[in-house]
Amino acid sequence: MTATIISGKELAKQKRLDLAKEVEQLKSEGVTPKLVVILVGDNPASVSYVTGKQKAAEEIGIEFTLENFPTTLSENGLLDVIEKYNNDDAVHGILVQLPLPDHINETAVIEKISPLKDVDGFHPINVGRMMTGQDCFLPCTPAGIVEMIKSVGIDLTGKNVVVVGRSNIVGKPVGQLLLNENATVTYCHSKTKDLQQFTKEADVLVAAVGIANFIKGEDIKPGAVVIDVGVNRLDTGKLCGDVDFEEAKSVASYLTPVPGGVGPMTITMLAHNTVQSAKNELK
Ligand code: GUN
Repeated sequence: MTATIISGKELAKQKRLDLAKEVEQLKSEGVTPKLVVILVGDNPASVSYVTGKQKAAEEIGIEFTLENFPTTLSENGLLDVIEKYNNDDAVHGILVQLPLPDHINETAVIEKISPLKDVDGFHPINVGRMMTGQDCFLPCTPAGIVEMIKSVGIDLTGKNVVVVGRSNIVGKPVGQLLLNENATVTYCHSKTKDLQQFTKEADVLVAAVGIANFIKGEDIKPGAVVIDVGVNRLDTGKLCGDVDFEEAKSVASYLTPVPGGVGPMTITMLAHNTVQSAKNELK
């Protein structure tokens, strides 16, 4: 079997065109969606993610402001900046790029962002709403993954989904969203005994562990849908995922590449949430 590649890049391109049309409509009604991204420090991976977010936002017609502070910014200083944008009616989305320097409490920062502008979907109010299946901002990477699976016409009802990884940003919420789609979800992680016993049973396997080429061909059930969330940089400078792409290609039915898979969809879902937030202004 040779897997069909689910191109996040192509899907993102289509979705961005649709979003651009929505933004045009919003502008004609007097609302310009605006996203503020706050970056503390100059971590190269974070700078690269933020640049991608800016590029996508501007391509779609979303107004974008980058607030870049030195790592010496205090926690209170950051909370004050968030407060300012919480109170700014022209701003529809606020995103604080993670990770933050050690002296800043991430939870306090996430909880400071107004849930109505939390386009990352990280605020406990949005997490709780997601868990209970209510309308909310969905976290971008998990929401993008669901879109990618649906884009190839796969019905998740009754499917065995195995999520490898349990981070708050990806592992936990993607399992919840797939459960909301009526899949049977199993979470595996670094303490799981005999991981392969689980992954081999997965109709849909989501790899979000952060270890290059961690999932091998022999870990995958023949015909499975494999979603690779990893972004790992090899010593050679090359980017690669958590899944051994070449091995997986001959076992899986569908496979997402790295780069060009989940990443572009994550950014697109951020734009989607920002547009959604702007639309809420008209309600
Ligand atoms: N750092 C890595 N991924 C993300 C993300 O999705 N949102 C934010 N805010 N920071 C991140």
